[in-house]
Amino acid sequence: MSSAKILVVDDDRNLAEVVRMRLESANYEVATAFREKEAIEAVRGQVFELSIVDLQLVGRDGISLMQELHLINPEMPVIILTAHGSIESAVEAMKRGAYSYLTKPFDPRELLLQIERALEKRRLTSEIQRLKGLLEERYDFANIVAKSEKMQRVLEVVSRIAQTESTVYIYGESGTGKELIAKAIHLGSERKDKPFVAINCAALPETLLESELFGHEKGAFTGAVRSTKGLFTEAHEGTIFLDEIGDMPLSIQAKLLRVLQERQFYPVGSGKPVAVDVRVIVATKKELEDEVKSGFFREDLYYRIHVIPIHLPALRERKEDIPLLVEHFLKRFIQQMKKDVKGLTPVAMRRLMLHEWPGNVRELENTIEYAVAMTRQDILTEDLILQTKVPFQKNEMAEDTLKPLKEAKDAFEKGYLIHLLELSEGNVSQAARLAGKYRADFYDLLKKHDLKVDDFKKSN
Ligand SMILES: Nc1ncnc2c1ncn2[C@@H]1O[C@H](COP(=O)(O)OP(=O)(O)OP(=O)(O)O)[C@@H](O)[C@H]1O
Ligand SMILES: [Mg+2]
Repeated sequence: MSSAKILVVDDDRNLAEVVRMRLESANYEVATAFREKEAIEAVRGQVFELSIVDLQLVGRDGISLMQELHLINPEMPVIILTAHGSIESAVEAMKRGAYSYLTKPFDPRELLLQIERALEKRRLTSEIQRLKGLLEERYDFANIVAKSEKMQRVLEVVSRIAQTESTVYIYGESGTGKELIAKAIHLGSERKDKPFVAINCAALPETLLESELFGHEKGAFTGAVRSTKGLFTEAHEGTIFLDEIGDMPLSIQAKLLRVLQERQFYPVGSGKPVAVDVRVIVATKKELEDEVKSGFFREDLYYRIHVIPIHLPALRERKEDIPLLVEHFLKRFIQQMKKDVKGLTPVAMRRLMLHEWPGNVRELENTIEYAVAMTRQDILTEDLILQTKVPFQKNEMAEDTLKPLKEAKDAFEKGYLIHLLELSEGNVSQAARLAGKYRADFYDLLKKHDLKVDDFKKSN
């Protein structure tokens, strides 16, 4: 990460020079500005990856200068330098968009570390945007919904590794989006204009799977009246997605291992090797370690494919994604079915939030599809949601009376809190007031029930 361009703004020329020398010896390209005017001109004239701004400039405060620089280059992270004892204004600067701050006198190593972090963050943000842009371009389903921290982390990894050649190992319960992520990786790579070929290894019997993957010569087995190329050849220069890799029979595992090691294979019934250039992405519903232990999966193959593991969390572990996913699917199905639906009632949404989603995102998608198809009103109701085949939990407040008292109380308390948060749209002060509780105690209650205020705020 060298040779990023950095602007240093400080009216103390000596200090600016010291910083310049430090940064230059760390291989950064540095420009200095001693006055606000120079700083603004510099940022107008060229793209800086980062700037370092002294908070106490003569004639103007660093915060308003930073804001002006951000108007010109909104992506540029700004690190604020502040004199000892002015923490408050440093905090203010952070609120107004500074990336971080350092108190003078500062440790140069700390400065370098912060610069590295800021640049890395900037790179990732623009990389994620690039990737999302690509996806939006390619698919009319627009984008991957990933509000939760867990999914953000997944996208970070995706954007980091998309352009490498490494084998990717995606694991997660059914319906968590494994195929979607595999496609995203392909689209984020240099191979994006070449084929993306997917096959479910659990769907075919052994011999068929082998010839599907590697092709066969005419007459290789009964019924092989023509020779076929096989998916590995079809995916040449592109990506092959091997879904349910855990169900691949051992004999084919051996053949796959050879492809990964030697980048070539023999079609069924052929003595002539075929060379291919293919990126491999595999997916499985569970981590394969147990399969390895019990001898159903080759250990050597496991280590070959377990290069970049990506875990897709179950939907119940990232419920904050539910409202956005609902919105996303609603939009799609309303458009597809040309129905005039405006949204769903808060109670219906609450029902969706409380459900545990064993079928994950796909189950949610089906539920919304069903509700949009069936509704005769322009708002989706709880009743409609309950009609889906999905076994929703009973309403814990009213119907379930046979629990031990403690559990019943807890269930009531949780339902009550959710109700308050819905009413107040996530405004904790208001909700606490309604409950006759102090804010701090109210927060404790939320924590106890694992409720997140953000889930109740109106998105956008
Ligand atoms: N984060 C997401 N944002 C938007 N749509 C998603 C997201 N995750 C999954 N989906 C959608 O949910 C459905 C299921 O996803 P996908 O087929 O990728 O899951 P999977 O893990 O491969 O499932 P399975 O294990 O059953 O094959 C797809 O229609 C996909 O587009
Ligand atoms: Mg799948």
